[in-house]
Amino acid sequence: MQSIDAALAGNFQFDHQIKINRMGFGAMRIVGKGVWGEPENRKEVIATLYRTLELGINFIDTADSYGPFISEELICEALYPYPKNLLIGTKGGHTRHGPDIWRPIGSPDYLRQCVLMSMRRLKLDQIRLWQLHRVGEDTFPELQFEAIAKMQQEGLIGHIGLSAVSVGMIKRASKFFKVASVQNKYNLVNRESEAVVDFCDENNIAFIPYAPLEQGVKFTGPVLEEIMNKKHASARQIALAWLLKRSKIIVPIPGTGSVQHLEENTAAVNVNLTDDEWTKLDLEGKKIWDKQKKSAKLYL
Ligand SMILES: NC(=O)c1ccc[n+]([C@@H]2O[C@H](COP(=O)([O-])OP(=O)(O)OC[C@H]3O[C@@H](n4cnc5c(N)ncnc54)[C@H](OP(=O)(O)O)[C@@H]3O)[C@@H](O)[C@H]2O)c1
Repeated sequence: MQSIDAALAGNFQFDHQIKINRMGFGAMRIVGKGVWGEPENRKEVIATLYRTLELGINFIDTADSYGPFISEELICEALYPYPKNLLIGTKGGHTRHGPDIWRPIGSPDYLRQCVLMSMRRLKLDQIRLWQLHRVGEDTFPELQFEAIAKMQQEGLIGHIGLSAVSVGMIKRASKFFKVASVQNKYNLVNRESEAVVDFCDENNIAFIPYAPLEQGVKFTGPVLEEIMNKKHASARQIALAWLLKRSKIIVPIPGTGSVQHLEENTAAVNVNLTDDEWTKLDLEGKKIWDKQKKSAKLYL
């Protein structure tokens, strides 16, 4: 097997201390079905977490609401004490009411509890990247941003990110703190966030596309298949390679609880698309998106 090193994806630098390889890991899939409860195969999940580091991954995305709490606890169990270069980005702002049921809450007191409890579970004295999972509709966004900025000033949070937001919301938040990362759904066939990607690119904000594999939905298309055959790569690997070439601020975080899938996904760093291949793929993906986008929900 060809060796796999996430560093081949290039890197994104948050500051002079935090530089991550542009192929990360999404830790939402290391818990039970519906992102609720314990994983079915705990041993495999722990092995997957160990393997991330061996593959050169030094950015793990999680959230207090994955499990809830279980994803953060498993990361700590498997990887603590953490290597110095590992960035664990977590999120808060969601409450959970059962499998696949998520309710955002933006009250400043709740957000503060989210951060303090993530610190405790992850055994960190600062969350170096904390992302507001959703801008809660129960509280004015500015009150949420003010509370988060205060936690940054106190040193509880290093960098601040947002999730599921429009360019307008990023600009509103930017009046309170430097937005370091944005996490929106984005992949070969989901283009709702094109304008957000462009904005992040122009402002050197890490864009962390969630669901980079369209949450397990099969990618198909004649151009895709032709490139797969030419490169001896899977559809998922081509879709990840397309993301990596889209912009240098993109850091994909494919999610899995399986060592084999993790290896396949990370090996996408070995797939180099030519400009021509990238453009043809881009058009094919856009056409699929244009057909299905009516059902999409616009971000705040
Ligand atoms: N900010 C947000 O609101 C938000 C929302 C959703 C997700 N996220 C983050 O983004 C990460 C990625 O998104 P996601 O996990 O929802 O979706 P994804 O990465 O697009 O796809 C994950 C799904 O694909 C399957 N899969 C992954 N690699 C595979 C492979 N090589 N072969 C076959 N199946 C494969 C996984 O199942 P297996 O476990 O069986 O591999 C899982 O069902 C999450 O883990 C989470 O950290 C953030």
